[in-house]
Amino acid sequence: MPQRPSTDRYTSVAVALHWLVALGIIYNLWKGLGFEDLEVAHPDQIRAAVNLHKSIGITLIGLIAMRVLWKIGHPAPAPLPGLKVWERKLSVSAHHVLYLLMVLVPLAGWLHDSAWKGAAEHPLVLFGQVPWFRLPLFGGLSDAGKDWWHGLFGGVHEWTAKLLIGVVALHIAGAVKHQFFDGKPQFRRIWFGK
Ligand code: HEM
Ligand code: HEM
Repeated sequence: MPQRPSTDRYTSVAVALHWLVALGIIYNLWKGLGFEDLEVAHPDQIRAAVNLHKSIGITLIGLIAMRVLWKIGHPAPAPLPGLKVWERKLSVSAHHVLYLLMVLVPLAGWLHDSAWKGAAEHPLVLFGQVPWFRLPLFGGLSDAGKDWWHGLFGGVHEWTAKLLIGVVALHIAGAVKHQFFDGKPQFRRIWFGK
């Protein structure tokens, strides 16, 4: 088993991946929740907005896979000293749930899109440049069968994304509390430096 590092910071790779993934997820949550309004107000823009959402989401799947693999070989530093037992347990649990949702949310989105009966007429092209594949699980189904899975994974995508918003809010609140209310060096742990 790889050992915990002796420093009190995450590695630079973990830091870079944390912030890239956080930015992408926050952007997709924010824009995703606005799709219904956009469809009503600017129906001509919805297709481009959803395509960008999918491109960022697929890219995030790659970055999150790298993040998980990196974590296996590079454990987190020892917890911030001086945390109460409940704070340590809550923050570690929140990190586990965040990892779980970081995998489930985009995967459910990709499954939702792969089961779409209009998929064949609308190829997935990342950022309008890189042709990408759908998950080859629904090809043999009737349109009604595809609709069923499309609806199911759409619901899973929406509700796991809403749960993710709650856990990210808790995560941010915890970090801000430790840094600004408890006066601990919280943010430097997840920023570049020696
Ligand atoms: C979608 C957004 C985010 C996700 C999914 C996320 C996820 C995570 C995860 C899983 C960890 C634990 C890393 C590990 O132990 O392997 C972590 C650490 C951390 N995150 Fe985030 N994060 C997000 C956004 C943010 C934001 C906006 C802030 C700042 C306000 C932040 C501050 C931190 C800090 C300070 C740590 C280090 C915790 C420690 O002391 O161990 N994160 N984040
Ligand atoms: C971590 C990455 C992602 C996040 C945080 C995210 C978040 C969201 C959110 C919040 C919604 C709105 C849900 C609703 O109110 O119905 C949404 C919708 C959607 N997402 Fe994602 N998503 C991500 C990745 C993906 C991926 C990878 C795909 C497909 C390749 C995808 C495809 C879609 C589609 C097709 C919709 C519905 C658009 C519509 O028909 O109204 N998402 N997403």
